[in-house]
Amino acid sequence: MEVLRAAVDAIRKEKPRKIVVLTGAGVSADSGIPTFRGAGGLWRNYRAEDLATPEAFARSPLLVWEWYEWRRSIVREAEPNAAHRAIASLAKALVVTQNVDGLHQRAGSQNVIELHGNLFRTRCVRDDSRRDAIHAFGDLPPHCECGALLRPDVVWFGETLPEGAFARASHAVSEADLLLVIGTSGVVFPAAGLVSLHDGLSIEINPQVSAISSACTFAIAAKAAEAAPAIIEAIHAGTDR
Ligand code: OAD
Repeated sequence: MEVLRAAVDAIRKEKPRKIVVLTGAGVSADSGIPTFRGAGGLWRNYRAEDLATPEAFARSPLLVWEWYEWRRSIVREAEPNAAHRAIASLAKALVVTQNVDGLHQRAGSQNVIELHGNLFRTRCVRDDSRRDAIHAFGDLPPHCECGALLRPDVVWFGETLPEGAFARASHAVSEADLLLVIGTSGVVFPAAGLVSLHDGLSIEINPQVSAISSACTFAIAAKAAEAAPAIIEAIHAGTDR
């Protein structure tokens, strides 16, 4: 593939060291986790306003939790794919993800900023205390020991990102020698805005044209699990790992 070869050549030439990987739902598509937009996307079959807003949760915590338990069960069964593993092999890279599935960490990435939270953590609606919640809940909606409702510790539409997460991500993106953008439609802000903060080599991997393809130096039209290992191998070849 012509673009992939050109991107590999650019990596060989520039030998990037400071690397940020920005990911979206598409990086987990090859693990069998549905994306949000496009064919088979969650927002094709469900309305975000009914399931992923604070208002929806206030209206029906049970409905929202049933949907999250279904998503949690899909992710629990899934395994990281070749793209997650290749990304994890970049031990010094920063991964900035919009995903809430935790698959980057399960693949071994240690330096991950989760812009939209994590499906396997809850938050008490009374005092905001967070805790890990890996297993399925027996009763829905789940409650905190204090009696208040628990909510998934994810960012819903209309909410702000976790404190400091965007600032840390922006700083790293603006300092990076290489930005890899994998599997995001680039339409949800502020995450999508990170691409415009980067100056220099940027490589997108996405089988479709996204809203940020034209902002990237190279846009490789391929699946993450197919193209990411080749791109990342080229990065390793230029450094001593
Ligand atoms: P989207 O569902 O909007 O976009 C997924 C992107 O992945 C699309 O551009 C697809 O073309 C691409 N894609 C599909 N299969 C792929 C594959 N095998 N390899 C690589 N790319 C592939 O997901 P996001 O951009 O992550 O927010 O969506 C951003 C945010 O919108 C999500 O974090 C979520 C959602 O509403 C919240 O819940 C706050």
